Amino acid sequence: MFPTASAVGTDRGQTDLSTRRKGGALGQIRLSPRGTVGVVRILGIESSCDETAAAVVENGEAVLSSVVASQMETHSKYGGVVPELASREHLRAITPVVREALEGSGTRLADLAAIAATVGPGLVGSLLVGLTYAKSLSFASGAPLIAVNHIEGHIHAVVLEARRAGTRIEFPALALVVSGGHTHLFEVRESFAYRLLGKTRDDAAGEAFDKVAKLLGFGYPGGPTIDRLAPYGNAGAVPFTFARMKGNALDFSFSGLKTAVLRWVEAHGMEAEIAARRALERSRTQLTTEEWLAVTPPRTLDLLASFQRAVIKELLVRAASAAERIGARAMIVSGGVASNSGLRAAASAAGLPYPVYFPSLGLSTDNAAMIAAAAFPKLERGEFAGLDVLAQANLTLA
Ligand code: KG4
Ligand code: ZN
Repeated sequence: MFPTASAVGTDRGQTDLSTRRKGGALGQIRLSPRGTVGVVRILGIESSCDETAAAVVENGEAVLSSVVASQMETHSKYGGVVPELASREHLRAITPVVREALEGSGTRLADLAAIAATVGPGLVGSLLVGLTYAKSLSFASGAPLIAVNHIEGHIHAVVLEARRAGTRIEFPALALVVSGGHTHLFEVRESFAYRLLGKTRDDAAGEAFDKVAKLLGFGYPGGPTIDRLAPYGNAGAVPFTFARMKGNALDFSFSGLKTAVLRWVEAHGMEAEIAARRALERSRTQLTTEEWLAVTPPRTLDLLASFQRAVIKELLVRAASAAERIGARAMIVSGGVASNSGLRAAASAAGLPYPVYFPSLGLSTDNAAMIAAAAFPKLERGEFAGLDVLAQANLTLA
């Protein structure tokens, strides 16, 4: 099945294209403060996991187009991302997705100041598809190639929107990047220099959501389903203990939580309801909240609500103490789990003494606008990659 492509929120139509200039050679690019001469368009390409995405972003702030082809339907029946299938789907989607991003933004290859691609971390076979495509476009068009770290991309989803809104993020900022593959705390300096303060020692938070959902028969990916159902349960009903960390107190751990859910399930004879949900989940995709509620007893809703609250507590307590440690003047929360409505509500209710920024929903999960945005300061610094740059599955940010 061909992946479904969707365009996420763009600024198309609000941008004056009259000052468009040809990219391709750095000497032709005129960078300038907002509102004066110089329009810089970057094509971003993202393929690190199970989304094939391309976007055109102008001056690091205006999303002219953003196309995301999701492979959700391909992987959901396996309960997680199958790397070989992901590479194959990227291969099928990359050309139409890039073409749609260019056409949707009225951009020709010759208009591009640079082509940015995710080089890691991620699945190597998936990364290779987007990166190789970007290299070919760079070679064909003469526009320089910029290598972007996926985690830095997530942070720049927030930077992009702040820039667009004219909001000044104060630095140092504490960034919590929380997705299916990452749960990291970074200190972010004004120059976009990063220092790792803590990370998960086992599962990523999104992975914990996905594993618990799978265990309970809610299918993949589990985060959005648990998010939708948690408000129907009592978050205080099932006590989960907060993981105490030896060594770095800013590290996270989610495997204990996952095991506690497993034990709870074993102790409460839930086989029949789990089987009913699996059958429902196999019958069709895109189930509604009401359909899930019809096969989920109140006690299980309490379990979901309590689990989600425990994950949120684990994330926010450590993020707040990391922020305090570095004297942060802002907090940035990004990555797929940043879509979680309970996390957003808890962060705003926490009364933290600095602003907390989340990306809009379309920019929280994987997308290419964030990759193009992260490339913008690199373009200003002339940080280009050679055509020999490699995909790096385990690339770190700091
Ligand atoms: O950033 P992302 O799209 O891909 C990675 O880089 O991993 O994040 C995907 C992860 C999945 O684990 C998914 O379950 C989780 O983000 N996720 C959520 C929500 N939406 C996506 N987790 C909790 N609540 C959500 N609303
Ligand atoms: Zn991601």
